[in-house]
Amino acid sequence: MATINDVAKRAGVSITTVSYVITGKRYVSDDLKERVRHAMKETGYRPNNLARSLRVGKTDTIGLVIPDSSNLFFAEVSRNIEDYGFKNGYAVFLCNSDDQVDKQTEYLEVLISKQVDGIIFTSVSNNRPNLDKLIDANIPFVIVDREEVEGIADVVLVDNYSGGFKAVQHLIDIGHRKIGCISGPSQSNPSAERQKAYLHCLRENGIEFTEGYIQSGDFRYKSGEAAMDELLSLNNPPTAVFVCNDMMAIGAFRSIQNHGLKIPEDISIVGFDNIQIGEAISPALTTVAQPIKEIAEKSMSLLYKRMRGEIKGGFERIVFDPELVLRDSTRSPFAKGE
Ligand code: RIB
Repeated sequence: MATINDVAKRAGVSITTVSYVITGKRYVSDDLKERVRHAMKETGYRPNNLARSLRVGKTDTIGLVIPDSSNLFFAEVSRNIEDYGFKNGYAVFLCNSDDQVDKQTEYLEVLISKQVDGIIFTSVSNNRPNLDKLIDANIPFVIVDREEVEGIADVVLVDNYSGGFKAVQHLIDIGHRKIGCISGPSQSNPSAERQKAYLHCLRENGIEFTEGYIQSGDFRYKSGEAAMDELLSLNNPPTAVFVCNDMMAIGAFRSIQNHGLKIPEDISIVGFDNIQIGEAISPALTTVAQPIKEIAEKSMSLLYKRMRGEIKGGFERIVFDPELVLRDSTRSPFAKGE
């Protein structure tokens, strides 16, 4: 196997010059760079990144731990994070925790052993031992989407309460009074905040909550279909439903169509996330837009500053106020005709 020595000899330069061409740590003229690169190609030399990592104390890798990359919200978040990382010379390792503390713990231990330079993760509940592991390993991390214990890391998320309130207020403003809610996993802080906003919005508008109008899902589309089936089986079904994420809203669409009903003529639907597919389905989904690209970029920007030691302590809590995006899945219950 070719060594750095073979490359130096073939290029007629010192080993130090070859090292500077590989690491970019010092200026090397274009002519010498070309000779070294040509020699690396001819000898088939491959720099040993592990040795280099140990020497320079970084691996140019970032860990990303999310609950479920098959959920299009997380797929879009991870895509933006990976793009941002690649542009800045980092490879991103994607890990799915399935919202399980044990799996998250296992992945964090793997990422620590791989000596990633930083971690971004959607934490599964306030699992302090997990977070302490990262602190002890001196690996900078940023928490995305979920609340965490204040003051131990930067947090980037949306104001879930504000978004939920806007969704339900919209349905009330266009005339609905029989409004249901399909919530996400009970342990999910974002879902709890959205459901709380639903109840508060009804109360602030003098609308009494109807027993059975909250059905639980798991943020996956099948659960949205099952929850909508339950709502439509009630003696007094709602005329509008706030669904706590777009994936379940797509499932709710399927249930409504299976019942021979139309959206929005028979029932209005509002989702949450603004995943891209929401504007492609028919009717296009009215939803609360999470600024996915901004969330990804802000979390990566904070992580870079931490990894480079540009900021220490003084953790930030970045909260985006999500906007309601009006499309075709909601209309007044009093509207006539098609
Ligand atoms: O769709 C997945 C949901 O889980 C999103 O709403 C996001 O906020 C996360 O909590």
